[in-house]
Amino acid sequence: MRELASRLVYFSPTGTTRAVVGAIGAGLGLARAEDLDLTGAEAGAPSAVGADLLAVFGVPVYAGRLPATAVDRLRRIKGAGGPAVLVVVYGNRAYEDALLELRDLAVELGFTPLAAGAFVGEHSFSSDATPIAPGRPDADDLRAAREFGLAVAAKLAGLADVAACPPLAVPGNRPYREAGLSGGVSPQADAALCQGCGLCADICPVGAVRLDEEGVVTTDAFACIRCCACVKACPTHARRVTHPAMLAVAQRLAANCHERREPEIFL
Ligand SMILES: Cc1cc2nc3c(=O)[nH]c(=O)nc-3n(C[C@H](O)[C@H](O)[C@H](O)COP(=O)(O)O)c2cc1C
Repeated sequence: MRELASRLVYFSPTGTTRAVVGAIGAGLGLARAEDLDLTGAEAGAPSAVGADLLAVFGVPVYAGRLPATAVDRLRRIKGAGGPAVLVVVYGNRAYEDALLELRDLAVELGFTPLAAGAFVGEHSFSSDATPIAPGRPDADDLRAAREFGLAVAAKLAGLADVAACPPLAVPGNRPYREAGLSGGVSPQADAALCQGCGLCADICPVGAVRLDEEGVVTTDAFACIRCCACVKACPTHARRVTHPAMLAVAQRLAANCHERREPEIFL
């Protein structure tokens, strides 16, 4: 079939999903249209993805589901029957219904799922005190992602017609599991360490962190999605998880999820 270009479409507050889809994109070996990065607070303008593009969707797993913010932003994209690769990235616990949810969403948006993968990234709640899949995706993960891209390209080359591709089966259950942690919980800035640089406010994907004129940082804990982008980006380590409920989750995950999980692919 006619050669397509690829377009990476992702939501990735702490960058692991972006790294994985980037490696898949490299493995595909196709020309690359400009990425559609849905992470920033200003992201999500309506956009159409033509059937001349292979869309690679990358979304992290939050509580076994897709983050609601990512779903809202993805819903502004319209497909035209073109092929899609569906990728979830999870923090070495489990991805449960997230890949099925992404498959269903891609079909609803007008794409034809061709292949899917579940990859592992350092958990958003990982810290030195509570390491959860630290440093992932590592070199082996990125190699697996590139090889997956290569396999997708081979599948695509062997297809006479994308529309004739049989439905893609991925694991997961319907109804999807209930969404996780209740609201009102967020990382906070330690005023003694904060230098008021505003990086936390700039990086927050939902605009929950603000820097006022006096250089004081405030956080709307009800708007926060607990992605921990602010924690990982803070140059002075002033942004921290201090809420007992979040700390308890991180401790539990660090204790129970250290056995290495490997990427899974569905072609
Ligand atoms: C609120 C929240 C819930 C999460 N739930 C899960 C989960 O159910 N299973 C899991 O393995 N990882 C879970 N994670 C970890 C992320 O899926 C993982 O760290 C991912 O690599 C983050 O992607 P990003 O770097 O693109 O932001 C969760 C992270 C957050 C912030």
